[in-house]
Amino acid sequence: MTVQNGTFTIDSKTVDMPVKEGSIGPAVVDIAALYKNTGMFTYDPGFTSTASCESKITYIDGDKGVLLHRGYPIEQLAENGDFLETCHLLLHGELPTPAEKVDFDHRVTRHTMVHEQMMRFFQGFRRDAHPMAIMVASVGAMAAFYHDSTDISDPHQRMVASMRMIAKMPTLAAMAYKYSIGQPFVYPKNDLDYAANFLNMCFSVPCEDYKANPVLARALDKIFILHADHEQNASTSTVRLAGSSGANPFACIAAGVACLWGPAHGGANEAALKMLEEIGSVERIPEYIARAKDKNDPFRLMGFGHRVYKNYDPRARIMQKTTHEVLQELGIKDDPLLDVAMELERIALSDPYFIEKKLYPNIDFYSGITLKAMGFPTSMFTVLFAVARTVGWIAQWKEMIEDPAQKIGRPRQLYTGAPQRDYVPMIKR
Ligand code: CMC
Repeated sequence: MTVQNGTFTIDSKTVDMPVKEGSIGPAVVDIAALYKNTGMFTYDPGFTSTASCESKITYIDGDKGVLLHRGYPIEQLAENGDFLETCHLLLHGELPTPAEKVDFDHRVTRHTMVHEQMMRFFQGFRRDAHPMAIMVASVGAMAAFYHDSTDISDPHQRMVASMRMIAKMPTLAAMAYKYSIGQPFVYPKNDLDYAANFLNMCFSVPCEDYKANPVLARALDKIFILHADHEQNASTSTVRLAGSSGANPFACIAAGVACLWGPAHGGANEAALKMLEEIGSVERIPEYIARAKDKNDPFRLMGFGHRVYKNYDPRARIMQKTTHEVLQELGIKDDPLLDVAMELERIALSDPYFIEKKLYPNIDFYSGITLKAMGFPTSMFTVLFAVARTVGWIAQWKEMIEDPAQKIGRPRQLYTGAPQRDYVPMIKR
């Protein structure tokens, strides 16, 4: 194959494949005409060289460790704003004016309650169900409760569904937690901010007064900001693919939740904490480092490595600081898990294997320790990720639906199975 100024010659067939420039970041080769002109597909399992769409929402420079939402660095958003401001930015493209912020917060707050019938839906689950299983089901079930916002061709209904999902996700997540520990569901309180309301729904009980610790509420809000969007990751691509068929937004987000559950994606924070617990003490770290490097051992250091970041994950830096703030506020000085985490980080960052492969701690490495200190069980970690990522999924889904060039996503394949053959009757097999 030869390439010259976007003209590719394959097997003596020449195809014009324009190179398209983005505003920043790598250009792409538009291969849409390839199959028509050559009868060949491209092959890229895991999409390591494939841009699946055009987007204006999030930009990542994995080599430099940069993450921008609508152009704004994640560090500035996490330091200066709150989660709902980031939601507005992702959804509408701009930071809100003071009046827009009041209106946006008010609209989210007014949608936090879920249909009372949802309570009964929850009663059908076993108490020991994983809360992510409950989330997949209850988010999908929203389509059965909110018929008036499932028409994707109506911009008003799209926006109502978007606000409903951002608002109701914490309520469903807290219900999943309360159900698992046998406590009554706690209704949302509209005078609390997004994170404090979530803490209240998770940790208050009707027989006692509860006031969310403002340091923990701010830390949780930051965790939500850090997880809000991450361009075309596995769950977001799942949401886009599900949405490309015209499926309703609740079904699409349920598909995103299902994908997020995997340990290579959102499940990594749960897996990272389990790993730290399993390692248990600083003395055992070398054994686990050796296992991570052993080609014949499937073990990987959870919370390390990233498909895109080949430098320190910028979110991990902020998360590391937040972890310390939370532990200090709670008076946790000698946490053995934190000791293991810090030493593991130090060793991995100086080990040639991890340096050569550019494996740095990712956000999940620290978020698990923080969420545990706040009182969340490990099974809830990925659920919190889902609460935060909902706005990213919704923003990406909306962008896709509103794109006039949008069509159903339908990848092709390299078939390596049996060629055509005749059916053999049972008696002759
Ligand atoms: N521990 C040990 N070795 C690793 C690790 C790790 N955590 N991650 C990658 N490697 C090695 C891997 O064995 C491979 O080596 P080789 O080239 O010799 O075969 C090389 O590094 C490249 O790995 P890869 O699997 O080809 O890279 P990928 O881009 O397909 O995978 C990843 C990215 C995040 C799935 C992977 O690094 C991993 O499994 N990490 C642990 C799970 C984790 O922390 N996931 C959270 C990701 S961030 C949050 C999110 O996106 O949800």
